[in-house]
Amino acid sequence: MSNPLLFQCSHRAQGNSNNAVNLFLEGVREAGGDAESIYIRKMDFKPCRACRICEKDQASPCALQGKDYALDLFETMLAAPFVFFAAPIYFYHLPSRLKTLIDRSQWVYARKMKNDPEVAGRPKRPAYLALFAGRTEGEKLFEGSRLTMKYFLDSFNLELQPPLEFRGFDKIADMERHPEAAEQIRSLGRDAWKNHAG
Ligand SMILES: Cc1cc2nc3c(=O)[nH]c(=O)nc-3n(C[C@H](O)[C@H](O)[C@H](O)COP(=O)(O)O)c2cc1C
Repeated sequence: MSNPLLFQCSHRAQGNSNNAVNLFLEGVREAGGDAESIYIRKMDFKPCRACRICEKDQASPCALQGKDYALDLFETMLAAPFVFFAAPIYFYHLPSRLKTLIDRSQWVYARKMKNDPEVAGRPKRPAYLALFAGRTEGEKLFEGSRLTMKYFLDSFNLELQPPLEFRGFDKIADMERHPEAAEQIRSLGRDAWKNHAG
């Protein structure tokens, strides 16, 4: 049985997304489960070349196969019972390294379109998301990230649940000023494991 995957998507080591992954993991463990944390900032992904080779025929691979860890990560995402992403908002969207990884999932999308049973046949599983923005204002602060995450995850048959969206989180230790936010994330982790374990 594969572990749930928790993605820390900030480019800074400590901070709100990092705290969120730790809190979500605490929740999972409180409910009797376990999960694997993945630190996007430690990985270097090559950008999608838009060569469209992955779309050609049933067996056509990604041209960048073996050049980095993107496809290995996608295989673990396909196997995971649920996933959690914690990410900051950078210029009204997701951080560049995460977006580079997302573009590479065109390979997964192409496999789904080709009805590859290892992708199209995966059961629907939940995906959880927490987003952090420094600003307190901006009606559409989270809109782009939410849409991109929904359609990225959809290729894996991962269904985005209503995201937690936090405003006014800017400094590394801002979570300490917001114990209610910390509890919300911990509780999301607990419920995610309980839902999965039934
Ligand atoms: C490159 C960059 C761009 C940012 N752009 C925005 C933005 O458009 N809107 C906003 O509210 N905050 C913005 N911020 C602030 C971050 O969203 C905020 O500091 C967040 O808490 C960082 O999350 P982390 O602690 O997980 O790294 C930006 C920060 C950086 C470094």
